[in-house]
Amino acid sequence: MTVSSNTTFVVNRENLHEHTVLERDPIQPEDLTEGEVLLAIDRFSFTANNITYAALGDAFKYWDFFPAEHPWGQIPVWGFADVAASRHPEVTEGTRVYGYLPMARQLRVEPGRLSKSGFTDVAAHRTDLPGIYNQYVFTANDPAYRPEHEAFQMLLRPLLVTSFLLDDFMARQDCFGAEQVILTSASSKTALGLAFMLNHQRESRGQPKVLTALTSPGNVEFVRRLGYYDRVIGYDELETLDAGEASVSVDFAGNGQVLQRLHEHFRDQLQFSSLVGASHWDQRGGSKGLPGPKPELFFAPKYWEEAAGEYGTAALMQRFAGLWAPLVASMEGWMTITDVQGADNVARAYEDTLEGRVSPEQGLILTLAP
Ligand SMILES: NC(=O)c1ccc[n+]([C@@H]2O[C@H](COP(=O)([O-])OP(=O)(O)OC[C@H]3O[C@@H](n4cnc5c(N)ncnc54)[C@H](OP(=O)(O)O)[C@@H]3O)[C@@H](O)[C@H]2O)c1
Repeated sequence: MTVSSNTTFVVNRENLHEHTVLERDPIQPEDLTEGEVLLAIDRFSFTANNITYAALGDAFKYWDFFPAEHPWGQIPVWGFADVAASRHPEVTEGTRVYGYLPMARQLRVEPGRLSKSGFTDVAAHRTDLPGIYNQYVFTANDPAYRPEHEAFQMLLRPLLVTSFLLDDFMARQDCFGAEQVILTSASSKTALGLAFMLNHQRESRGQPKVLTALTSPGNVEFVRRLGYYDRVIGYDELETLDAGEASVSVDFAGNGQVLQRLHEHFRDQLQFSSLVGASHWDQRGGSKGLPGPKPELFFAPKYWEEAAGEYGTAALMQRFAGLWAPLVASMEGWMTITDVQGADNVARAYEDTLEGRVSPEQGLILTLAP
């Protein structure tokens, strides 16, 4: 199996509106050193989460996974690839893997910690980065893998793992004693995943009593129709909420002004303020001297490691699998997969996502293959 081009999509790390396509020299099988493997990248998903990787690329080291020449950065994505050539005795050509990839057509990896289910890229530049991003899963040995569900796997697995971990966090804290949990960017897949899970389990837990969605006015109707939340309101209506209701905020938008208004409205009735995302990536900052609790960052890879240490990885994965099936079944009912092919179309899909022009019911699946 060969890939005759190494088309690579890069963005300016200092100005995400600037981007280009580099036609790099393809990596040839004979370029590999002992122990290395060449991946031919097939398809990958693209959502606000990938824009957040870029917006927080320096702070969270997202640029370090797939280094590029200054001023460019390669945005990491989740997708599938096939082993095009191998100089590793236990990884054979043609093996299909799922994992963290650059927006390119090729990736050279150095498989280590091999098991029946996959390997870790142990390349020196990745060893200090969160381990969960360095793992590649062999689709042939992944019990949850279905070839016809690849699009949903790429789009939803990385996001819904976060929803699942947030749900676990909320349950362990008894929702901080709050009546209401408020989610911003409530139309995002990660927020919808959390709403579904909180909703799904509240009969047995008895909480939270109310799940409230805050979203853009243009997305209110869509979010309401899904029925994952009890209340759905636009950002412009935030102050209509009952300020006396003990509440928790889970912020996926990262919009400084919205967070300021939330804190000023609920003040000490806000029991906890969780910072999860930055889908409004160009509206960050600006919140100062917030009344109520100090917002706390939730970083899924770190929480995963802690939870896996406590419950054991197998038990954690089993619990996730139990929630994954009903959630994906529900999301399949309304999500439309949009396939995008070729460098020019990928660039347009990137711009649409950056500018917030992709409707929340869409799931973008991209490939740089012509
Ligand atoms: N902390 C963690 O470990 C972790 C893990 C996973 C995801 N996350 C974060 O969760 C957030 C949601 O990610 P996702 O992939 O689930 O999102 P998504 O499904 O692509 O979300 C789309 C929604 O995000 C908002 N949005 C997107 N781009 C925007 C723009 N340019 N301007 C204004 N609003 C925009 C809109 O929601 P509204 O109209 O409802 O605002 C839009 O409907 C991301 O910031 C992601 O990084 C964090």
